[in-house]
Amino acid sequence: MKKLLDLISEEMMGAFEAAGYDRELGKVTVSNRPDLCEYQCNGAMAGAKTYHKAPIMIAKDVAEKCEGSEVFSSVEAVNPGFLNLRLNGKFLGNYLKGMEKEDKFGLPKPEKPLKIVIDYGGPNVAKPLHVGHLRSAVIGESIKRIARYNGHEVIGDIHLGDWGLQMGLIITELKERKPELPFFDESFTGEYPKEAPFTISELEEIYPTASARSKEDEAYKEKAMEATFKLQSGVKGYRALWNHIIAVSVSDLKKNYENLNVEFDLWKGESDVHDLIPDMVEYMKREGYAHESEGALVVDVKEETDTKEIPPCMILKSDGASLYNTTDLATIRERMEKINPDQIIYVVDKRQELYFTQVFRCARKTKLVKHDTLLTFVGFGTMNGKDGKPFKTRQGGVMRLENLLSDINEQMYTKMITNHEIPEESKEEAKGIAAMVALAAVKYGDLSNQASKDYIFDVERFTSFEGDTGPYILYTIVRIKSILNKYDALEKEKQDTGIREPEGEAEKELMMSLAGFISMMQTAWEEMAPHKVCAYIYDLANAFNHFYHETKILQEEDEEKQAGYIALLKLTKEILETCIDVLGFAAPERM
Ligand code: ARG
Repeated sequence: MKKLLDLISEEMMGAFEAAGYDRELGKVTVSNRPDLCEYQCNGAMAGAKTYHKAPIMIAKDVAEKCEGSEVFSSVEAVNPGFLNLRLNGKFLGNYLKGMEKEDKFGLPKPEKPLKIVIDYGGPNVAKPLHVGHLRSAVIGESIKRIARYNGHEVIGDIHLGDWGLQMGLIITELKERKPELPFFDESFTGEYPKEAPFTISELEEIYPTASARSKEDEAYKEKAMEATFKLQSGVKGYRALWNHIIAVSVSDLKKNYENLNVEFDLWKGESDVHDLIPDMVEYMKREGYAHESEGALVVDVKEETDTKEIPPCMILKSDGASLYNTTDLATIRERMEKINPDQIIYVVDKRQELYFTQVFRCARKTKLVKHDTLLTFVGFGTMNGKDGKPFKTRQGGVMRLENLLSDINEQMYTKMITNHEIPEESKEEAKGIAAMVALAAVKYGDLSNQASKDYIFDVERFTSFEGDTGPYILYTIVRIKSILNKYDALEKEKQDTGIREPEGEAEKELMMSLAGFISMMQTAWEEMAPHKVCAYIYDLANAFNHFYHETKILQEEDEEKQAGYIALLKLTKEILETCIDVLGFAAPERM
């Protein structure tokens, strides 16, 4: 289906043309004075110069041509030359009837569906997930779902950080603690233990300890670097130990992401491309892209138009070791060979923007990608605490994602049991509901901000049932569900009128809000902006609640009218549910 605003503009363009003016002047926008009109057109003002006429004259000519229009109920020419427009209710009702019937409410399929890889999450194995990883997972998941809803084929890849110095640090620390383990015995020929020699909690304690030690103890750091090198060059015991680290860590990560309702199609990591690096390096040398600089191998990526210095992209360090860059470039090469995407999207902390500029330029220059492959960086800001500094736990440490979520679940549950008496047998269900609401609170709290901006993680505000919050949206959906259930339970013959033309103002506003769905969903994808989905459903929920307070729905005696209301409620519910689904959360049956 066409966007509502486009249909309205076309009608207005026709009127300009019929009155003898340039069609293009007929573009319509949503009114910035909703007290005066619903839509407006400023074309008469813009045309005044060309036609040597007072804008009000032009506006009056055009308004005259709109008489009898099926799109507008009123077109007013007002000084100095604005056209104030109101929509015809029947036209609006018919538009929504169309949306009701069509797949995806009439959202058009893309002309050419894209194949897209989205690289998000990016946790580092054996290091605790932190709030930056939370943002990448939440935003990435939503962009993935928005792209899919818009008709593209999208493959989500977690891109685990599983290959760097942190692995060497963990191995070194384990060796210090349990030197007797066969993994460290180079003459060992038997089978390595199947059981991991640590639990996830030990693992998470080992990394920070090792990392702190390496900063003070030069010899220890040397050992860790050597262990990294040995691991990467394939020393058997180290690989076997590394497999245990990955397995323990990944099963913990899977649990965490599942709780977040985040799903990856691929669980690839930096290590997966290790064996592809020598060939890529050879290629870059052979084609003359890479050159030596102070012992290191680099590709120049600066461009004449740069206003700030873009340093070369380093491919190998002077000791021959590969870097974060190298794995990212090799991953691009592999993705192109195996998946051949039209676009790769990276959802990463915006502090890595310069890094990705280098990587993208290098990938283009060295022709790892096709000339038209899109490489897109979606950088997000920092999640701050109420003090405006990066979010920390109450004790001041880095927050583990698991604790963050369980804390909020608990707060949500406490809130629920203080509001209502919950009988013993319903407590389990209540906990499940609290978890759903808590997830909505966290995700909406994050996604309702423009991703690139820093934001303040304010649990009190996010978990409130009023205002621009996830729980408010869920509450609205649950309210609609409850009315629909009550209607179903009414013992009477039900009419099937579908959506009708609006009668009151509140009803019309709700309908106009629903009609904006297609345009919102397209923009949210084009701009990769989940916050636009949030802003939309907040307006829609407000419009619905306003309508609900003004209207007797279940007590309505005119049965056709009532059936029309019910159809409107169904559409509202479906659109709200579709939107929260692309945001990555769901509503319970009751709250
Ligand atoms: N593991 C990285 C980090 O924690 C993020 C990975 C981002 N993705 C990528 N392809 N480099 O900073």
